Amino acid sequence: MGDLTMDFLRLMLMAAMLLTSVQGQAADQTAAPTAMPAPHEVEFLRSADKACTDCHKEQKEGMHGQHAKATNPNNLAPVTCTNCHGQPSLQHREGVKDVMRFSDSFNQPQGKDGYPIAEQNSVCMSCHEPKPLREALWAHDVHMTKLTCTSCHQLHPAKEPMVGIPAQSRIKLCVDCHSKQHEAIKAKTTAQDKEAP
Ligand code: HEC
Ligand code: HEC
Ligand code: HEC
Ligand code: HEC
Ligand code: HEC
Repeated sequence: MGDLTMDFLRLMLMAAMLLTSVQGQAADQTAAPTAMPAPHEVEFLRSADKACTDCHKEQKEGMHGQHAKATNPNNLAPVTCTNCHGQPSLQHREGVKDVMRFSDSFNQPQGKDGYPIAEQNSVCMSCHEPKPLREALWAHDVHMTKLTCTSCHQLHPAKEPMVGIPAQSRIKLCVDCHSKQHEAIKAKTTAQDKEAP
């Protein structure tokens, strides 16, 4: 092996280094213009909800609280209106039963248009795992099939009523509803007693 071979190798090395630095510059040049359209991409993601908020002006601000910046664990995309409400049909504006309507099990008992508790709660459970729910409140388990999640939670208002609820208000919440329930059962049995011959 002579000096010539070494010179040749050195030359090749320099050429390779030059080439990569040129490529580096080229990459920088292409990177700069692509940085500009980025806001468009953000706009594109937002438009998933815009289709809804064009009509539903009250929801214009989108979600508050954690759902506003949450990632859907199923597709790793931001949480959208349709993740919870599903897809509207062509007759949506006429009020047909298409999108999911969440209700309060006590103040709005399932009417003819109401969705069953299991159907409502399964929307929430498509993202929420039972274990963290149990850790946040043991009573989540006992109510899973008995109450809609939205009997206690409200997701659209800026202030979620349950998050950070003081201990006393929490107890009052349980007692109020359970005594109402008691009265309802009592009223029912008294009515049945009266009906009995
Ligand atoms: C598309 C997925 C998804 C669906 C559907 C969903 N959630 Fe969530 N939710 C999340 C994520 C992600 C968070 C952030 C915290 C976490 O990971 O638990 C969150 C947070 C919350 C919080 C804390 C709120 C806050 O602002 O601090 C509550 C309460 C909650 N969800 C209740 C519900 C209820 C009730 C339903 C059904 C009506 C529901 N969620 C449906 C994904 C979802
Ligand atoms: C063209 C206008 C329009 C668009 C777009 C639209 N909606 Fe609606 N939506 C309506 C009207 C009108 C009603 C009221 C029907 C009724 O009173 O029962 C309604 C009802 C609803 C309800 C039930 C409200 C309630 O009081 O129970 C929900 C939830 C809902 N829409 C969600 C959505 C979501 C989510 C989207 C986007 C995927 C969407 N809508 C897109 C017009 C629209
Ligand atoms: C009986 C009322 C009640 C029902 C029904 C209920 N929750 Fe809760 N939830 C609470 C309370 C109280 C907390 C504790 C809030 C705190 O201490 O900050 C809580 C906490 C949570 C949290 C954690 C919020 C945080 O701090 O990040 C999530 C998520 C949640 N609930 C989701 C659900 C889902 C999903 C359902 C339906 C399957 C449901 N909840 C049903 C009362 C309820
Ligand atoms: C994480 C689940 C979730 C997401 C995401 C979500 N909603 Fe809702 N939506 C609910 C629940 C639960 C209710 C029942 C009222 C409440 O809890 O605030 C509701 C109620 C509604 C109603 C009826 C309003 C009323 O006052 O009864 C409309 C309309 C609606 N949502 C539209 C939307 C639109 C538009 C978006 C997207 C910007 C959206 N929702 C995103 C869960 C969700
Ligand atoms: C909105 C009404 C409501 C609220 C609020 C509520 N509960 Fe309940 N709870 C129910 C209903 C309905 C059942 C099912 C009763 C049945 O199966 O007859 C139930 C069942 C239970 C059970 C199972 C025992 C049984 O009788 O089946 C326990 C324990 C319980 N609730 C504790 C709690 C605690 C603790 C809280 C407060 C964090 C609470 N509840 C808040 C309505 C409520």
